[in-house]
Amino acid sequence: MNYKEPMLRDNALKGKVIVVTGGGTGLGRSMSTYFSKLGATIVITSRKLEVLEKTAEEMSAETGGKIIPVACDVRDYDQVENLLKVTLEKAGSPDILVNNAAGNFISPTERLSHRAFDAVIDIVLKGTKNCTLAFGKHWIDQKEKNKNILNIVTTYAWTGSSYVVPSAISKAGVLALTRSLAVEWAKYGIRSNAVAPGPFPTEGAWSRILPGDLTEKLNVVNQIPLRRSGEHQELANLCAYMVSDFASYMNGEVVTLDGGEWLQDAGQMNFLDAVTPEMWDFFISLSKKSK
Ligand code: HXC
Ligand code: NAP
Repeated sequence: MNYKEPMLRDNALKGKVIVVTGGGTGLGRSMSTYFSKLGATIVITSRKLEVLEKTAEEMSAETGGKIIPVACDVRDYDQVENLLKVTLEKAGSPDILVNNAAGNFISPTERLSHRAFDAVIDIVLKGTKNCTLAFGKHWIDQKEKNKNILNIVTTYAWTGSSYVVPSAISKAGVLALTRSLAVEWAKYGIRSNAVAPGPFPTEGAWSRILPGDLTEKLNVVNQIPLRRSGEHQELANLCAYMVSDFASYMNGEVVTLDGGEWLQDAGQMNFLDAVTPEMWDFFISLSKKSK
C-alpha cells in the first residue's frame, strides 16, 4: 500500500450528488474522478463547456459513473442559480459542494491594474461566495440536512504571500467564510471545511505560478521538507474522506497537505538545515562548554 493508491472503501460516496467547480481540469478533475469511483454522481462546472464535455466523457469511461457537465461562470450569481437548477433536474438535490475553481498569476502588486485584482478576487472569493450562498439557501429553505461544503484554499490563506496578493486575500476570505459558516450553518446540518494543498503539479497552476523555466530555476521541491510535490490521488483521498459521512464530526477544519512546505520558512531556526554533521559536532561541543 502507498500514498498513490485510493484509500476509501468501495461505495463510500454512493448515492451522493457532488458539484465540483473547476472540475474539468487539474485537481478538480482528479477529485471528481475519485468521487465518481466511490459511487457519487458528479456535476463538473466551469466556463468552458467543450473542456467539461470532453472530461465528462473520459471520466465516465474510466469510472462507469454519471458525470454531468454544466457551463457556469461562478462570478455570475444568475449562472450559479442555473447550475443549481440543472443539478436538481439532472441529478437531484446536491449533497456536497466543492469550491475548487480559481484564477491566479504572479506579479508585483504595483504592476497590477484594478481589473487584474478583480479578475482573481471575482473568481476565488466572489465565486465561492456565490456558490455557497445559492446552495446553502436551497438546503436551508428545503430543510435538507447532512450536506457539506469543501473549499480549496492554500497555505498562504493564513500567512499571506507576496507576488500573488489578489489570490492571497481571496483565499484568506474563503478561509474566513469556511470557519464562519461552520458555526452559523451547523444548526441546519451543513458542515464547512477547507483543504490547503501545497504544490501539486497541474497545467493551470504551473503555467501561471511557475511560467517558463521557473520550475527548474527555483527547484520548488527543495522548499518542501519531504522533498517532493503532491500526488493528485493523495489529495483526492483526503477530500473524499472530508466530504464523506465518515467525517461527520469534522466542521470548520482546514487540513494542510503540503509536505511541511509552509512551516519550512516559518520556523525561526529552520535555516540550520544547512548544517553538516561535522559542523553539528563542533557547535554542540561549543554550546556544552558554555554552560
Ligand atoms: C498581470 C494580468 C495577468 C498577468 C491577466 N491580467 N493576466 N495582469 N499579470 N499574468 C490582467 C489583464 O491585463 C486585465 O487587466 C485583467 O487582468 C483581466 O484579464 P482577463 O484576461 O480579461 O481575465 P479573465 O479572462 O477573467 O481571466 C482570469 C485569469 C486567467 C485569472 C487572468 O488566468 C484565468 O482564467 N485563470 C483560470 C485558471 C487559473 O488561473 N488556474 C490557476 C489556479 S492556481 P486590464 O487592466 O489589462 O484590463 C492557484 C494556486 C494557488 O490558485 C497556490 C499556489 C502556490
Ligand atoms: P486549474 O486546473 O487551473 O483549475 C482552475 C479551474 O477553475 C479551471 O477548471 C477553470 O476552468 C476554473 N475556473 C476559472 N475561472 C472560473 C470561473 N469564473 N467560473 C467557473 N470556473 C472557473 O488549477 P488547479 O491547480 O487544478 O487548481 C485547483 C484548485 O487548487 C484552486 O482552487 C487552486 O487555488 C488550488 N490550489 C492548487 C495548487 C496547486 O499546486 N495546483 C496549490 C494550492 C491550491 P475554466 O477556465 O473552464 O473556467
